[in-house]
Amino acid sequence: MTGIALLGAGRIGQVHAKAIAQAGAKLVSVFDVMPKAARAFGEKTGATVCDSAQAAINHPGVDGVLVATSTDTHVDLILAAADAGKMVMCEKPIAPSLAEARRCIDTLGDRVDKVFIGFNRRFDRSHAKLNAAVRGGEIGSLEQLTITSRDPYPPPLEYIPVSGGLFRDMMIHDFDIARWMLGEEIVKISAEGGVAVDPEIGRLGDVDTAIVTMVSASGKQIVILNSRRAVYGYDQRIEAFGATGMLISDNPSETSVKRFDASHFAAPDAYATFFMDRYTGSYRAEIEAFVDMIQSGGKSPVNAVDGFMASYLAEAATLSCQTGRSIELDVSGKPTWDTPS
Ligand SMILES: NC(=O)c1ccc[n+]([C@@H]2O[C@H](COP(=O)([O-])OP(=O)(O)OC[C@H]3O[C@@H](n4cnc5c(N)ncnc54)[C@H](O)[C@@H]3O)[C@@H](O)[C@H]2O)c1
Repeated sequence: MTGIALLGAGRIGQVHAKAIAQAGAKLVSVFDVMPKAARAFGEKTGATVCDSAQAAINHPGVDGVLVATSTDTHVDLILAAADAGKMVMCEKPIAPSLAEARRCIDTLGDRVDKVFIGFNRRFDRSHAKLNAAVRGGEIGSLEQLTITSRDPYPPPLEYIPVSGGLFRDMMIHDFDIARWMLGEEIVKISAEGGVAVDPEIGRLGDVDTAIVTMVSASGKQIVILNSRRAVYGYDQRIEAFGATGMLISDNPSETSVKRFDASHFAAPDAYATFFMDRYTGSYRAEIEAFVDMIQSGGKSPVNAVDGFMASYLAEAATLSCQTGRSIELDVSGKPTWDTPS
């Protein structure tokens, strides 16, 4: 049975622990800088609680390492696991800054394919089916891609200053979806951000409502919409428009009941949940893909360079939003701006 070490027993660590059990792998060891959290986690899962990340990585029976810690610790933990010869899965984003993301891929060198970045939305059944249909030519040449991603409610205010900002923390998923759908890089980006949800978010230096437009190397147009609040629930849609048709990966509804009355016409129940419920299947599928990668010794389906390129787009979007300029991009991820990142 494939053995996994888990670093970080917080919110997403707990989601992954369930997926590891469902995927038929074994959670062998766990480390968290908060010993109480680690102990509670160990008792619940049967994993050995270790007193350092290195001890968890090196624990007997560990084949792969799952990094689910706070973003500022990702790069050092990816490198520690890779240096120990383990396959690594790391939560998004790969790093809190573009410079750190660059350090990660430069240090990994030809080991970038041993790292699996947790862009779980690629493993959502509907998004994956849409992706396969686009790539299979079902709508002819893809011309426009619209990605909508709205959270039901904003995160706690104390999270805002450490989040890296909406583009690096939240829209990073959508940048990855865009690259995955297009199969090519982005050459131009323009971002607008505003504060429509909570003025406190603005006072803390972030935006809560944003729109990004991008153009790909072959001229395809992309729009991404983000909001930190949607009263009707977690809003996650992808629309791909092509020469011979359109494909939509829509929000699932809680049940198949539809209402017809004075104020509803075929309105399904709202799906008022968040990522843990909406993407349960994708978390399981990505762990299964990670276990497959460990067992086969194959290449990561979402490697460290994918993590870096998403961070590149997030950095450029942040800058575009701050300066009001659109930014021409380099397909290799070289910064085209002077601002230190
Ligand atoms: N893919 C997704 O859908 C998704 C969803 C939520 C969070 N995330 C990402 O997962 C990561 C964790 O987010 P979260 O919401 O679980 O946060 P969290 O604060 O709930 O959990 C993080 C845990 O990591 C621990 N930790 C911090 N530094 C550590 C270190 N050096 N070694 C070991 N443990 C350490 C903390 O004590 C905490 O228990 C973030 O990078 C976040 O962006 C991804």
